[in-house]
Amino acid sequence: MKILAINSSPRTAKKSKTTLMLDHLVKGMKMAGAEVDVVSLKEKKIKACIGCERCQILAICTHKDDMTNELLPKWLASDLVLYASPIYFRFFNSLMKKFIDRTYPAFKLFFQKDDEIFMQARYNLPSIAVLAVSSLPQEAEFEALSMYINHMFGKDLVVAEIYRHSAFLFKPPYGKKITDILNATIQAGKELVESRKVFPDTITQITQQIDNKANIIECIRMMHEISKQKTLSKNLSLTKILPEKKWEMLLTHISLIASEATGIISNQRYETTQDFNFDQGFVDMGMDYSQCLKFHESLEKSLNCQFPFTILFKYPTVKQLSIYLAKEVFKDVDGFEKIQGLIPHKNNSSITIEKDVEQLSEMEAEDTLLNELEHLDSVSFP
Ligand SMILES: Cc1cc2nc3c(=O)[nH]c(=O)nc-3n(C[C@H](O)[C@H](O)[C@H](O)COP(=O)(O)O)c2cc1C
Repeated sequence: MKILAINSSPRTAKKSKTTLMLDHLVKGMKMAGAEVDVVSLKEKKIKACIGCERCQILAICTHKDDMTNELLPKWLASDLVLYASPIYFRFFNSLMKKFIDRTYPAFKLFFQKDDEIFMQARYNLPSIAVLAVSSLPQEAEFEALSMYINHMFGKDLVVAEIYRHSAFLFKPPYGKKITDILNATIQAGKELVESRKVFPDTITQITQQIDNKANIIECIRMMHEISKQKTLSKNLSLTKILPEKKWEMLLTHISLIASEATGIISNQRYETTQDFNFDQGFVDMGMDYSQCLKFHESLEKSLNCQFPFTILFKYPTVKQLSIYLAKEVFKDVDGFEKIQGLIPHKNNSSITIEKDVEQLSEMEAEDTLLNELEHLDSVSFP
Protein backbone atom coordinates (compact mmCIF):
# COMPACT_ATOMS: atom_id res chain seq x y z
CA MET A 1 0.00 0.00 0.00
CA LYS A 2 1.30 3.46 -0.92
CA ILE A 3 0.77 6.02 1.82
CA LEU A 4 1.44 9.73 1.74
CA ALA A 5 1.72 11.13 5.28
CA ILE A 6 1.45 14.90 5.36
CA ASN A 7 2.68 16.63 8.49
CA SER A 8 1.65 20.27 8.87
CA SER A 9 3.24 21.00 12.24
CA PRO A 10 5.49 24.02 11.92
CA ARG A 11 7.46 22.99 14.98
CA THR A 12 10.76 21.11 15.07
CA ALA A 13 10.63 17.33 15.28
CA LYS A 14 11.94 17.53 18.84
CA LYS A 15 9.06 19.73 19.98
CA SER A 16 6.16 18.67 17.79
CA LYS A 17 3.66 16.32 19.35
CA THR A 18 2.03 15.77 15.97
CA THR A 19 5.37 14.52 14.70
CA LEU A 20 5.77 12.29 17.75
CA MET A 21 2.37 10.66 17.15
CA LEU A 22 2.94 10.53 13.40
CA ASP A 23 6.32 8.82 13.82
CA HIS A 24 4.66 6.05 15.80
CA LEU A 25 1.80 5.69 13.35
CA VAL A 26 4.24 5.50 10.43
CA LYS A 27 6.32 2.95 12.31
CA GLY A 28 3.25 0.68 12.53
CA MET A 29 2.41 1.25 8.86
CA LYS A 30 5.90 0.28 7.78
CA MET A 31 5.86 -2.75 10.06
CA ALA A 32 2.73 -3.86 8.22
CA GLY A 33 4.56 -3.52 4.91
CA ALA A 34 3.32 -0.17 3.60
CA GLU A 35 5.43 2.15 1.52
CA VAL A 36 5.18 5.45 3.40
CA ASP A 37 6.29 8.85 2.16
CA VAL A 38 6.33 11.43 4.95
CA VAL A 39 6.17 15.06 3.84
CA SER A 40 6.72 17.96 6.19
CA LEU A 41 4.75 20.88 4.79
CA LYS A 42 6.90 23.47 6.53
CA GLU A 43 9.77 22.44 4.27
CA LYS A 44 7.76 22.82 1.08
CA LYS A 45 7.00 25.85 -1.02
CA ILE A 46 3.24 25.96 -1.32
CA LYS A 47 1.47 29.16 -2.29
CA ALA A 48 -2.04 29.86 -1.10
CA CYS A 49 -4.85 29.28 -3.58
CA ILE A 50 -5.77 32.61 -5.21
CA GLY A 51 -9.23 31.51 -6.26
CA CYS A 52 -8.66 32.19 -9.99
CA GLU A 53 -10.71 29.05 -10.78
CA ARG A 54 -8.51 28.33 -13.81
CA CYS A 55 -8.10 24.78 -12.56
CA GLN A 56 -11.84 24.30 -12.90
CA ILE A 57 -11.41 24.59 -16.64
CA LEU A 58 -7.86 23.34 -17.20
CA ALA A 59 -7.53 20.89 -14.27
CA ILE A 60 -4.10 22.44 -13.66
CA CYS A 61 -3.13 25.02 -11.06
CA THR A 62 -1.87 28.48 -12.00
CA HIS A 63 0.90 28.26 -9.41
CA LYS A 64 4.11 26.44 -10.18
CA ASP A 65 5.51 25.30 -6.88
CA ASP A 66 6.08 22.13 -4.83
CA MET A 67 2.36 21.47 -4.73
CA THR A 68 1.99 21.45 -8.52
CA ASN A 69 5.27 19.73 -9.27
CA GLU A 70 5.50 17.18 -6.51
CA LEU A 71 2.75 16.94 -3.93
CA LEU A 72 -0.47 16.85 -5.94
CA PRO A 73 0.87 14.08 -8.22
CA LYS A 74 2.00 12.15 -5.14
CA TRP A 75 -1.36 12.73 -3.47
CA LEU A 76 -3.21 11.34 -6.48
CA ALA A 77 -0.90 8.35 -6.79
CA SER A 78 -1.38 7.27 -3.16
CA ASP A 79 -3.76 4.64 -1.85
CA LEU A 80 -4.08 6.46 1.43
CA VAL A 81 -3.31 10.01 2.49
CA LEU A 82 -2.77 10.77 6.13
CA TYR A 83 -3.39 14.35 7.19
CA ALA A 84 -1.42 14.96 10.40
CA SER A 85 -2.02 18.38 11.90
CA PRO A 86 -1.86 20.22 15.19
CA ILE A 87 -5.18 21.62 16.32
CA TYR A 88 -5.28 25.39 15.89
CA PHE A 89 -8.51 27.05 16.95
CA ARG A 90 -10.23 23.68 16.93
CA PHE A 91 -9.34 22.98 13.30
CA PHE A 92 -6.46 21.99 11.02
CA ASN A 93 -3.71 24.60 11.08
CA SER A 94 -3.34 26.94 8.12
CA LEU A 95 -0.48 25.00 6.51
CA MET A 96 -2.74 21.96 6.21
CA LYS A 97 -5.69 24.00 5.02
CA LYS A 98 -3.48 25.59 2.38
CA PHE A 99 -2.51 22.11 1.21
CA ILE A 100 -6.13 20.96 1.05
CA ASP A 101 -7.20 24.08 -0.87
CA ARG A 102 -4.52 23.35 -3.42
CA THR A 103 -5.98 19.92 -4.16
CA TYR A 104 -8.81 21.82 -5.91
CA PRO A 105 -7.56 20.93 -9.43
CA ALA A 106 -8.50 17.32 -8.64
CA PHE A 107 -12.15 18.35 -8.31
CA LYS A 108 -14.73 20.06 -10.41
CA LEU A 109 -17.89 21.69 -9.26
CA PHE A 110 -21.09 20.15 -10.40
CA PHE A 111 -24.72 20.97 -9.82
CA GLN A 112 -27.30 18.54 -8.66
CA LYS A 113 -30.92 18.80 -9.70
CA ASP A 114 -32.07 20.57 -6.60
CA ASP A 115 -29.37 23.21 -7.14
CA GLU A 116 -27.20 22.00 -4.30
CA ILE A 117 -23.53 22.28 -5.26
CA PHE A 118 -21.13 19.40 -4.80
CA MET A 119 -17.46 18.88 -5.50
CA GLN A 120 -16.92 15.99 -7.85
CA ALA A 121 -13.54 14.27 -8.15
CA ARG A 122 -11.96 14.11 -11.56
CA TYR A 123 -9.86 11.10 -10.57
CA ASN A 124 -9.96 8.17 -8.19
CA LEU A 125 -9.16 9.80 -4.89
CA PRO A 126 -6.99 8.28 -2.18
CA SER A 127 -8.56 7.19 1.09
CA ILE A 128 -8.12 9.66 3.90
CA ALA A 129 -6.97 9.23 7.48
CA VAL A 130 -6.62 12.08 9.95
CA LEU A 131 -4.31 12.50 12.90
CA ALA A 132 -4.83 15.64 14.96
CA VAL A 133 -3.18 16.63 18.19
CA SER A 134 -4.39 19.20 20.69
CA SER A 135 -3.02 20.66 23.83
CA LEU A 136 -6.24 21.06 25.75
CA PRO A 137 -7.36 17.93 27.58
CA GLN A 138 -10.75 17.37 25.97
CA GLU A 139 -12.21 15.68 22.94
CA ALA A 140 -14.35 18.72 22.16
CA GLU A 141 -11.21 20.19 20.54
CA PHE A 142 -11.78 17.84 17.58
CA GLU A 143 -15.56 18.03 17.12
CA ALA A 144 -15.54 20.68 14.40
CA LEU A 145 -12.70 19.00 12.53
CA SER A 146 -14.36 15.60 12.62
CA MET A 147 -17.62 17.05 11.36
CA TYR A 148 -15.77 18.82 8.54
CA ILE A 149 -13.78 15.75 7.51
CA ASN A 150 -16.85 13.55 7.27
CA HIS A 151 -18.97 16.20 5.63
CA MET A 152 -16.30 17.17 3.11
CA PHE A 153 -14.85 13.80 2.14
CA GLY A 154 -17.65 11.43 3.10
CA LYS A 155 -17.72 8.08 4.84
CA ASP A 156 -16.39 6.21 1.80
CA LEU A 157 -13.10 8.06 1.71
CA VAL A 158 -12.45 8.65 5.41
CA VAL A 159 -11.04 5.44 6.87
CA ALA A 160 -9.73 6.65 10.23
CA GLU A 161 -9.75 9.62 12.57
CA ILE A 162 -7.17 9.64 15.35
CA TYR A 163 -7.43 12.49 17.80
CA ARG A 164 -5.08 12.87 20.73
CA HIS A 165 -5.61 15.57 23.35
CA SER A 166 -3.44 16.69 26.34
CA ALA A 167 -0.39 16.63 24.12
CA PHE A 168 1.56 18.99 26.37
CA LEU A 169 2.14 15.99 28.66
CA PHE A 170 3.96 14.10 25.93
CA LYS A 171 7.52 14.88 26.86
CA PRO A 172 10.19 12.39 27.75
CA PRO A 173 10.70 10.55 29.91
CA TYR A 174 7.34 8.96 29.08
CA GLY A 175 5.41 7.38 31.93
CA LYS A 176 3.49 4.13 31.46
CA LYS A 177 0.29 5.75 30.15
CA ILE A 178 2.05 7.72 27.45
CA THR A 179 4.11 4.71 26.46
CA ASP A 180 0.85 2.75 26.17
CA ILE A 181 -0.64 5.50 24.00
CA LEU A 182 2.38 5.57 21.70
CA ASN A 183 2.36 1.78 21.40
CA ALA A 184 -1.34 1.87 20.58
CA THR A 185 -0.50 4.43 17.90
CA ILE A 186 1.95 1.97 16.35
CA GLN A 187 -0.83 -0.61 16.48
CA ALA A 188 -3.18 1.86 14.73
CA GLY A 189 -0.64 2.21 11.92
CA LYS A 190 -0.57 -1.56 11.45
CA GLU A 191 -4.36 -1.81 11.48
CA LEU A 192 -4.71 0.97 8.93
CA VAL A 193 -2.58 -0.97 6.48
CA GLU A 194 -3.90 -4.43 7.26
CA SER A 195 -7.61 -3.63 7.69
CA ARG A 196 -8.02 -0.11 6.27
CA LYS A 197 -9.40 1.03 9.60
CA VAL A 198 -8.39 1.46 13.21
CA PHE A 199 -10.28 -0.77 15.61
CA PRO A 200 -12.33 0.86 18.39
CA ASP A 201 -10.18 -0.75 21.13
CA THR A 202 -7.07 0.84 19.67
CA ILE A 203 -8.78 4.23 19.42
CA THR A 204 -9.83 3.86 23.07
CA GLN A 205 -6.20 3.19 24.01
CA ILE A 206 -4.95 6.19 22.05
CA THR A 207 -7.54 8.58 23.39
CA GLN A 208 -7.42 7.42 27.01
CA GLN A 209 -7.38 10.06 29.70
CA ILE A 210 -4.08 10.65 31.40
CA ASP A 211 -4.25 11.12 35.12
CA ASN A 212 -2.14 14.26 35.14
CA LYS A 213 -0.95 13.95 38.68
CA ALA A 214 -0.01 10.28 38.49
CA ASN A 215 1.82 11.00 35.24
CA ILE A 216 3.61 13.97 36.76
CA ILE A 217 4.75 11.97 39.77
CA GLU A 218 5.97 9.14 37.57
CA CYS A 219 7.79 11.56 35.25
CA ILE A 220 9.46 13.38 38.09
CA ARG A 221 10.62 10.13 39.63
CA MET A 222 12.04 8.99 36.27
CA MET A 223 13.63 12.35 35.65
CA HIS A 224 15.36 12.27 39.00
CA GLU A 225 16.69 8.83 38.24
CA ILE A 226 18.06 10.01 34.90
CA SER A 227 19.41 13.24 36.24
CA LYS A 228 21.11 11.34 39.09
CA GLN A 229 22.78 9.00 36.64
CA LYS A 230 23.84 11.90 34.45
CA THR A 231 25.36 13.87 37.29
CA LEU A 232 27.05 11.09 39.22
CA SER A 233 29.92 10.95 36.81
CA LYS A 234 30.56 14.68 36.84
CA ASN A 235 33.32 15.98 39.10
CA LEU A 236 33.86 19.43 40.45
CA SER A 237 37.09 20.67 38.94
CA LEU A 238 38.17 21.74 42.38
CA THR A 239 39.16 18.25 43.47
CA LYS A 240 42.84 19.04 43.59
CA ILE A 241 42.39 21.93 45.96
CA LEU A 242 42.66 21.44 49.72
CA PRO A 243 39.31 20.30 51.12
CA GLU A 244 38.77 23.34 53.32
CA LYS A 245 39.68 25.74 50.56
CA LYS A 246 37.48 23.85 48.13
CA TRP A 247 34.52 24.16 50.42
CA GLU A 248 35.06 27.87 50.76
CA MET A 249 35.39 28.25 47.00
CA LEU A 250 32.14 26.43 46.37
CA LEU A 251 30.29 28.60 48.88
CA THR A 252 31.78 31.75 47.40
CA HIS A 253 31.06 30.65 43.86
CA ILE A 254 27.39 29.95 44.60
CA SER A 255 27.08 33.24 46.49
CA LEU A 256 28.54 35.13 43.57
CA ILE A 257 26.26 33.50 41.03
CA ALA A 258 23.25 34.09 43.28
CA SER A 259 24.22 37.72 43.70
CA GLU A 260 24.71 38.10 39.99
CA ALA A 261 21.30 36.56 39.30
CA THR A 262 19.63 39.05 41.64
CA GLY A 263 21.65 41.94 40.22
CA ILE A 264 23.23 42.69 43.59
CA ILE A 265 26.79 42.73 42.36
CA SER A 266 26.46 44.39 39.03
CA ASN A 267 28.51 47.34 40.29
CA GLN A 268 30.67 45.86 43.02
CA ARG A 269 33.02 42.95 43.56
CA TYR A 270 33.32 40.96 46.74
CA GLU A 271 36.86 40.17 47.71
CA THR A 272 36.42 37.77 50.63
CA THR A 273 33.91 35.24 51.83
CA GLN A 274 33.27 37.46 54.86
CA ASP A 275 31.12 39.61 52.61
CA PHE A 276 28.55 36.87 52.15
CA ASN A 277 25.95 35.49 54.49
CA PHE A 278 25.86 31.83 53.46
CA ASP A 279 22.76 31.19 55.56
CA GLN A 280 20.67 33.79 53.79
CA GLY A 281 17.81 32.34 51.73
CA PHE A 282 17.74 33.03 47.99
CA VAL A 283 14.27 34.49 48.31
CA ASP A 284 15.48 36.71 51.18
CA MET A 285 18.21 37.97 48.84
CA GLY A 286 15.32 39.23 46.71
CA MET A 287 15.52 36.51 44.08
CA ASP A 288 12.29 36.25 42.10
CA TYR A 289 11.17 33.32 39.96
CA SER A 290 12.87 34.35 36.73
CA GLN A 291 16.06 35.17 38.62
CA CYS A 292 15.91 31.67 40.17
CA LEU A 293 15.80 30.26 36.64
CA LYS A 294 18.81 32.36 35.66
CA PHE A 295 20.64 31.37 38.84
CA HIS A 296 19.99 27.68 38.15
CA GLU A 297 21.15 27.95 34.56
CA SER A 298 24.34 29.84 35.46
CA LEU A 299 25.20 27.40 38.23
CA GLU A 300 24.78 24.38 35.97
CA LYS A 301 26.90 26.01 33.30
CA SER A 302 29.66 27.27 35.56
CA LEU A 303 29.94 24.06 37.59
CA ASN A 304 29.48 21.81 34.57
CA CYS A 305 26.76 19.78 36.25
CA GLN A 306 23.03 19.27 36.13
CA PHE A 307 20.53 19.22 38.92
CA PRO A 308 16.76 19.76 39.05
CA PHE A 309 15.52 23.32 39.25
CA THR A 310 13.30 22.45 42.21
CA ILE A 311 16.42 21.77 44.30
CA LEU A 312 16.69 25.54 44.76
CA PHE A 313 13.47 25.44 46.76
CA LYS A 314 14.46 22.34 48.70
CA TYR A 315 17.89 23.73 49.65
CA PRO A 316 17.17 27.44 49.66
CA THR A 317 20.40 28.88 51.13
CA VAL A 318 23.95 29.02 49.80
CA LYS A 319 25.11 26.66 52.54
CA GLN A 320 22.34 24.11 52.04
CA LEU A 321 22.73 24.16 48.27
CA SER A 322 26.51 23.73 48.57
CA ILE A 323 26.03 20.69 50.77
CA TYR A 324 23.54 19.20 48.34
CA LEU A 325 25.83 19.80 45.36
CA ALA A 326 28.88 18.48 47.12
CA LYS A 327 27.21 15.36 48.41
CA GLU A 328 24.62 14.48 45.78
CA VAL A 329 26.06 15.91 42.60
CA PHE A 330 29.82 15.82 42.97
CA LYS A 331 29.80 12.86 45.38
CA ASP A 332 32.63 14.48 47.28
CA VAL A 333 32.34 14.67 51.03
CA ASP A 334 35.91 15.77 51.81
CA GLY A 335 36.08 18.78 54.03
CA PHE A 336 32.40 18.90 54.77
CA GLU A 337 32.55 17.29 58.19
CA LYS A 338 32.66 20.56 60.01
CA ILE A 339 29.30 21.64 58.74
CA GLN A 340 27.63 18.23 58.86
CA GLY A 341 25.18 19.47 61.42
CA LEU A 342 23.62 21.54 58.67
CA ILE A 343 23.01 18.65 56.32
CA PRO A 344 19.27 18.40 55.73
CA HIS A 345 17.28 15.14 55.83
CA LYS A 346 18.92 12.20 54.14
CA ASN A 347 15.75 11.69 52.13
CA ASN A 348 15.87 10.49 48.58
CA SER A 349 15.02 13.76 46.80
CA SER A 350 12.63 12.21 44.28
CA ILE A 351 10.57 10.59 47.00
CA THR A 352 10.30 13.90 48.83
CA ILE A 353 9.24 15.62 45.63
CA GLU A 354 6.63 12.96 45.00
CA LYS A 355 5.20 13.65 48.41
CA ASP A 356 5.36 17.37 47.80
CA VAL A 357 3.52 16.95 44.51
CA GLU A 358 0.83 14.85 46.11
CA GLN A 359 -0.03 17.78 48.32
CA LEU A 360 -0.33 20.22 45.45
CA SER A 361 -3.39 21.02 43.40
CA GLU A 362 -3.42 19.60 39.88
CA MET A 363 -2.46 22.96 38.38
CA GLU A 364 0.40 23.46 40.82
CA ALA A 365 1.61 19.91 40.12
CA GLU A 366 1.52 20.67 36.41
CA ASP A 367 3.59 23.80 36.95
CA THR A 368 6.12 21.74 38.87
CA LEU A 369 6.29 19.24 36.05
CA LEU A 370 6.68 21.92 33.41
CA ASN A 371 9.55 23.42 35.39
CA GLU A 372 11.20 20.04 35.63
CA LEU A 373 10.65 19.47 31.94
CA GLU A 374 12.22 22.82 31.07
CA HIS A 375 15.26 21.72 32.97
CA LEU A 376 15.32 18.43 31.15
CA ASP A 377 15.28 20.01 27.72
CA SER A 378 19.05 20.14 27.99
CA VAL A 379 19.32 16.49 28.95
CA SER A 380 19.44 13.89 26.21
CA PHE A 381 17.59 10.68 26.78
CA PRO A 382 18.59 7.23 25.78
C1 LIG B 1 -2.33 29.28 16.92
C2 LIG B 1 -2.58 28.12 17.85
C3 LIG B 1 -3.87 27.74 18.11
C4 LIG B 1 -4.13 26.67 18.95
N1 LIG B 1 -5.41 26.31 19.18
C5 LIG B 1 -5.66 25.25 19.99
C6 LIG B 1 -6.99 24.84 20.23
O1 LIG B 1 -7.95 25.38 19.73
N2 LIG B 1 -7.18 23.80 21.08
C7 LIG B 1 -6.13 23.12 21.67
O2 LIG B 1 -6.35 22.19 22.42
N3 LIG B 1 -4.86 23.48 21.41
C8 LIG B 1 -4.60 24.52 20.60
N4 LIG B 1 -3.31 24.88 20.34
C9 LIG B 1 -2.22 24.06 20.90
C10 LIG B 1 -1.72 23.03 19.87
O3 LIG B 1 -2.78 22.28 19.35
C11 LIG B 1 -0.76 22.06 20.57
O4 LIG B 1 0.32 22.80 21.10
C12 LIG B 1 -0.24 21.00 19.65
O5 LIG B 1 0.51 20.09 20.40
C13 LIG B 1 0.67 21.57 18.62
O6 LIG B 1 1.13 20.52 17.81
P1 LIG B 1 2.67 20.38 17.49
O7 LIG B 1 3.33 20.12 18.81
O8 LIG B 1 2.76 19.23 16.58
O9 LIG B 1 3.12 21.65 16.85
C14 LIG B 1 -3.04 25.94 19.52
C15 LIG B 1 -1.73 26.35 19.26
C16 LIG B 1 -1.50 27.42 18.43
C17 LIG B 1 -0.07 27.80 18.14
